[in-house]
Amino acid sequence: MCGIVGYIGKAEAPNILIKGLRRLEYRGYDSAGIAILDEAGKMVVVKSPGKISALNEKARAEWPDALFTQAPTGIAHTRWATHGEPTENNAHPHLDESGEIALVHNGIIDNYLALRARLKDKGHHFHSETDTEVLAHLVGEFYKGDIFHAVCDALHQVEGTFGICVLATREPDRIITARRGSPIAIGVGDGESIVASDASVLLAHTQRVIYLDDNDVAIVKKDSVDIRDLDNIPVNRKIAELEMDASAAEKGGFEHFMIKEIHEQPEALSNAIRGRLDFTHGTAVLSGMGTSPRELSELGRVVMVGCGTSLHAGLVGEYAFEELADIHAEVQQAAEFRYRNPILDRRDFVVAISQSGETADTLAAVREAQQKGAFVMSLCNVVGSTIARETGRGVYLHAGPEISVASTKAFTSQVAVLLMMALKLGRGRRLSREHGLEIAKAIASIPKLVTQVLTQNAHIEELAAKYVKDEHAFYIGRGLMYPVALEGALKLKEISYIHAEGYHAAELKHGPIALISKGIPVIAVACDIPGKDKTLSNIEECRARGARILGIVTEGDTAAAARMDDFIAVPSTHHLVTPVPAVVALQLFAYHVARLRGKEIDQPRNLAKSVTVE
Ligand code: M6R
Repeated sequence: MCGIVGYIGKAEAPNILIKGLRRLEYRGYDSAGIAILDEAGKMVVVKSPGKISALNEKARAEWPDALFTQAPTGIAHTRWATHGEPTENNAHPHLDESGEIALVHNGIIDNYLALRARLKDKGHHFHSETDTEVLAHLVGEFYKGDIFHAVCDALHQVEGTFGICVLATREPDRIITARRGSPIAIGVGDGESIVASDASVLLAHTQRVIYLDDNDVAIVKKDSVDIRDLDNIPVNRKIAELEMDASAAEKGGFEHFMIKEIHEQPEALSNAIRGRLDFTHGTAVLSGMGTSPRELSELGRVVMVGCGTSLHAGLVGEYAFEELADIHAEVQQAAEFRYRNPILDRRDFVVAISQSGETADTLAAVREAQQKGAFVMSLCNVVGSTIARETGRGVYLHAGPEISVASTKAFTSQVAVLLMMALKLGRGRRLSREHGLEIAKAIASIPKLVTQVLTQNAHIEELAAKYVKDEHAFYIGRGLMYPVALEGALKLKEISYIHAEGYHAAELKHGPIALISKGIPVIAVACDIPGKDKTLSNIEECRARGARILGIVTEGDTAAAARMDDFIAVPSTHHLVTPVPAVVALQLFAYHVARLRGKEIDQPRNLAKSVTVE
């Protein structure tokens, strides 16, 4: 989604900000801009629709070279359009009426129309359709020489969500930043400070980070950070060490982040699993869950919440919890959950699944579940993310930064961790040690299984070439293969723009089969797990109507493979683990189709890595 970078330090602010924006490109954006204080203390702004490269060229054409090497302060933004098209006028930073205050903003100001009307009556002129410009003017309206107070006064009037950075010509020694519902991290460097909506931007400067909480407002100077609440009461936020490694956010010789992350899965999964399996007691050690055996035995229900790929991981989790822990388990789309007035009590174990830990709907679902007294924990990848911090208890994936918008290693790590959670819960209830050991061994084998699938990269690329011209595809599966079908279809549609739908194979006859005609590709996830034979019958029904079948089958299952036009064989394993190798085959398939179609794989159109607005 939108990205923020602010810098105050020694010099070279424009170069540093542009580098920071490049780091945020993966989040998805459609315009960008930058505001700098020049040596005369004047605010200079450059904005451009399209890519950061266009912004960079424009800045270099319009600004003197000296500005790039000497200016010590500036703020910058990548915008993902919400209010108004991705034009130059709508791009951030926005200025107040005087032109002396610049502001960048992530989030949505819900009451901007009312505020805009009020400000217009007071003589303000607006040049964009955005809610952000209204906020910039509101800050200007309150400004009496102290930008911190003006920001606080303005934010008191605002309904909605924000992560902001503000710069004022009359106070060049500071950037004001604040958050409510949209993340802000402040890097504390040596004679420099850097503010960003994504901590990965800070890595080039420092490992020391402060995460703002909601309603925090910070006065950021090059050698100090002073944090208060909106009423000017000082608040204490700890400095944490960033655990990321800067090289993890580079492509490392791969053509795209997506293919790099697909190949990183054996390592990511090893990191997710390492030290968390107990082969003596046949259980999992997940101290972050913070549960006693007694609490586990008293739980009445598991309710997972998430969106997109995280929701699909939760669907796999349903099977694992029910089978291993004998507990009712369900996953709900987080946006649906937050608004449906869910029935919850303290015996409900709510698990928020989110790679980024910033997804607005999942965060709201967490807050709703906490309100209702449920036992809430998170399963996040990004350390220090809002959901991880607000839940207080949870398990990190440790999969490393996932840069590609299309989620891959997060999904497989989520599944691995959910299996371990189900194992731990099961052992606290009725699961025997022997059965627990069997599951623990199956989980431990996951990295190796994934490596085996990755060796088929070339074969999958050849298959992709056969399907690259199709404009529609159906993915089908049953049981544990149903979430795999959904996830496979999501991967294909988001990066190749092929219309791909995932269906429960049993649902075909209830409608979708009407769409099956000669030559239509059906990707059938028919690994050897309970229910496979029924899926094979559904495949026959598709074949009878002329569909071309690409099957995902278990190695050695020649009978299943014989039913397919093409197939990818994945290694045999415990049925609860099967979704992992099966989905890796479909990730590779989607990647190669999109690549052959020449798509922008890491930044698909209209999509953002982290959806921080509703
Ligand atoms: O960060 P989260 O896991 O909360 O994100 C949820 C979805 O936005 C995300 O999984 C999305 O569906 C991906 N683009 C899928 O590849």
